[in-house]
Amino acid sequence: MHYFEEHHKLVESGALQLLLTDHQPLIVSRELLERSGAESPFVTREMVEEVIARRRRLPTPTVPAGREEMLASAPRRAVPFELLSEGFSGPPVATQPLAAYEALFHSRYRALARLLRGRPSLPNLRPIQELRASDGVASVIGMVREVRETPQRHHLILTLDDESGSVELLVPKDSPGSRVPILPDEVLGATLQFAKEPGRLPRVASIDRPDVPASRTLGRSPRPRRVLFLSDLHIGSRSFLAEAWKELVGFLRGQGPRPELAASIDHVVIAGDLVDGIGIYPRQERDLAISDVVEQYAELGRRLAELPERLGIVAVPGNHDAVCPAEPQPALSDSLTRGLPPNVRILANPSTFALEGVVVEAYHGRSFDDLIPALPGASYARPTEVMKRMLLMRHLAPIYGDRTPLAPLPRDGLVIDPAPDILVTGHAHTYGVDRYRGVLLLNASTWQAETEYQRMRNITPVPARAAVVDLATLNLLSLDFSRGPPTFDGAGA
Ligand SMILES: [Fe+2]
Repeated sequence: MHYFEEHHKLVESGALQLLLTDHQPLIVSRELLERSGAESPFVTREMVEEVIARRRRLPTPTVPAGREEMLASAPRRAVPFELLSEGFSGPPVATQPLAAYEALFHSRYRALARLLRGRPSLPNLRPIQELRASDGVASVIGMVREVRETPQRHHLILTLDDESGSVELLVPKDSPGSRVPILPDEVLGATLQFAKEPGRLPRVASIDRPDVPASRTLGRSPRPRRVLFLSDLHIGSRSFLAEAWKELVGFLRGQGPRPELAASIDHVVIAGDLVDGIGIYPRQERDLAISDVVEQYAELGRRLAELPERLGIVAVPGNHDAVCPAEPQPALSDSLTRGLPPNVRILANPSTFALEGVVVEAYHGRSFDDLIPALPGASYARPTEVMKRMLLMRHLAPIYGDRTPLAPLPRDGLVIDPAPDILVTGHAHTYGVDRYRGVLLLNASTWQAETEYQRMRNITPVPARAAVVDLATLNLLSLDFSRGPPTFDGAGA
């Protein structure tokens, strides 16, 4: 219900009941929003029936062939896992790259415009093509094509695109709209004031971003079961922290301190860079203990098999993994994951899933490489500040054409929808915990010591940390394995 409210739709009660009988109600809901269009404010029972019937005719490609059986035979987990959506939605439909990227950006615009439309703070909302100076005050929702600064007065000239056209706007220096840096390719709403003199650019009075709603119902588990978050294992690297990993294995097996805490953990989530890969950066071979990528995944299988098999392990790939680097990345191929234990699910990067009703979005975090240079004051040492910005934009990696390659898929799988209860990233190799509008933000450390390449890039890792989150309260406990048996910090016990 709250999900539809956020998207400004009214749902018939019969429609809602039917929706809740489906085993993936959120996926159906999103499809309903995509198909109902901007004009219709209603979701009817017939619309739900149509979408459910259509989905039943489609094959569900989320688990590669062969692994389904293995997953089915895995030990039954106490905490139910529900896949809500994978960022990767199959290969591009358009054959021309330009048309494929056009489809991607249209999808992004529509998904984010839906979150902005209908707000009282965006009065007299118009398509760009229909803006008239005689309106006095009007609003638009657009994707940022360009931001440039005027040479003398340092005002901003903002170019916005929507599906009807393009417009140049003036954002005066020190005005409310200029307070939060505007990033290329983000989608925002702008309230405009037109000048009386002809030929002057409309002025931006205020800017609205999609953001996470201030009040929403948060997912909580009815039982105090827990999930452990890890990232950036970099198996195959000479710098893999085997001793710290051994401590982690001992702790999870109940052989270290707090065995009762270890026993309450049902799930492990790993946010990418499962292996170190090959050819990821110049002269990486000097840093590798295992130089064959297939062998690296075999070793990953052995390391994950050391963890108790009652755990449900969910992992997404990162930029070091052997899969297409363009984001969203598909799940790893069956040939690489064949050696993983049956309790491991490999999903696409990013992916959204629920652990006993708590919605988790796992994204590796490659876009830190673009967002950190673009946001004044941002750094790898404070990744959660950048994650807040992702939630404000409701997008994980908006900037096109920089260091994060974007895959031209028909649906923009990097849009954050639904808003999660927990957003977890890696990539920065640091450890950070924060909260933003009820969302728990976590950058989940690494199990690799500092490499020469990182030293060169001035990245100081914070390795061998793990986070345990209580799914009933979202309280978090930080575990530090960097100096032997774990030390604990936080309120999540
Ligand atoms: Fe990494």
